[in-house]
Amino acid sequence: MNISINELKELMANKLTQAGLKREDAGVVADVLAHADARGIFSHGAMRTEYYAERIAKGGITVNPDVQFKQTGPGTAVLDADNGVGHVAAKDAMTRAIEMARENGTAVVGIRRMSHSGAMSYFVQQAAEAGMIGISMCQSDPMVVPFGGAEPYFGTNPIAFAAPGEGDDKIIFDMATSIQAWGKILHARSKGETIPDTWAVDKDGVPTTDPFKVTGLLPIAGPKGYGLMMMVDILSGVLLGLPFGKHVSSMYHDMTAGRELGQLHIVIDPGAFTSTDLFRANISGMMKELNEVKPAPGFDQVLYPGQNTTLQEKESLKNGVEIVDEILDYLRSDVVHHNQYDHKDPFAK
Ligand code: NAI
Repeated sequence: MNISINELKELMANKLTQAGLKREDAGVVADVLAHADARGIFSHGAMRTEYYAERIAKGGITVNPDVQFKQTGPGTAVLDADNGVGHVAAKDAMTRAIEMARENGTAVVGIRRMSHSGAMSYFVQQAAEAGMIGISMCQSDPMVVPFGGAEPYFGTNPIAFAAPGEGDDKIIFDMATSIQAWGKILHARSKGETIPDTWAVDKDGVPTTDPFKVTGLLPIAGPKGYGLMMMVDILSGVLLGLPFGKHVSSMYHDMTAGRELGQLHIVIDPGAFTSTDLFRANISGMMKELNEVKPAPGFDQVLYPGQNTTLQEKESLKNGVEIVDEILDYLRSDVVHHNQYDHKDPFAK
């Protein structure tokens, strides 16, 4: 059903407040989720509300966290989120990183002991809107097999990048380091469809087209994506003294415990390296030139990386967004959650 982005935000904020989150924090989470839906990233939008509501209600997200921010050098800092809601911690840390980069040219801010924070694009967008380059990455629960492996070790460890162009121009690129999100496998299961043999493997590590046999996702670009997801885990986990690789907590294992996850923001002020005006003009120039590249057969136009989601966002802000009926029914109901995520096997049927 179609719904306006503002109404969707309101419904999600109400539900999260009902689950026990402070109204202000619920508003931030709803904003991050609505950002994802508006950009067509439905895997990280409203469909996650019930999971968060269950975790909040069961105590696995601290609703009154004792957040500690410690600047460890001119351009380095660590924010300990006390397992508070991840979206709020990540937004707060990015705001502080932008301030530090304004003073020092660059800032690297780690967030430790946080819960899931959704789509990385939201946080790098904050940097681009402040005229900075933003890079953000985080750990996620182990679901991806290492190159050549038959069992998961790393998570789908996403990485996002944003850069400002002239005026409102900006590039926002955001990807998981696995070929497909787990949500796409679930989608194929629900539709009774097969999946391409490049997405995932079965229990023996053999590529499978049967979504019900999947016990591990595959990294993007073979050993290269495998290396990239390792880099993300080192920078957002090992660097912050957190559990890493297969030791990262499962999204569903124990909804009463904090997830102890990590995320890293890197912010670069272009003015510390070149003329800011030149940088922004060249970013806009690159966006334009990419759009002018001769399209290959089957393509109408070459988009710059992330442009599809930016175009989608403009459309959604104007005309609303299509959200699955069951999700809207839940958001409009009095039910806080249906107790469906606790101790769920992520690969279970
Ligand atoms: P995706 O595969 O839909 O897109 C990846 C990137 O490619 C996007 O920036 C998209 O705009 C760009 N793209 C796609 N088609 C394009 C085209 N034709 N031209 C130009 N650019 C194009 O995204 P993916 O990998 O499924 O990730 C979805 C979201 O999941 C991200 O927001 C990510 O941050 C989030 N995520 C969060 C996790 C967490 O633990 N918090 C874990 C994994 C993913």
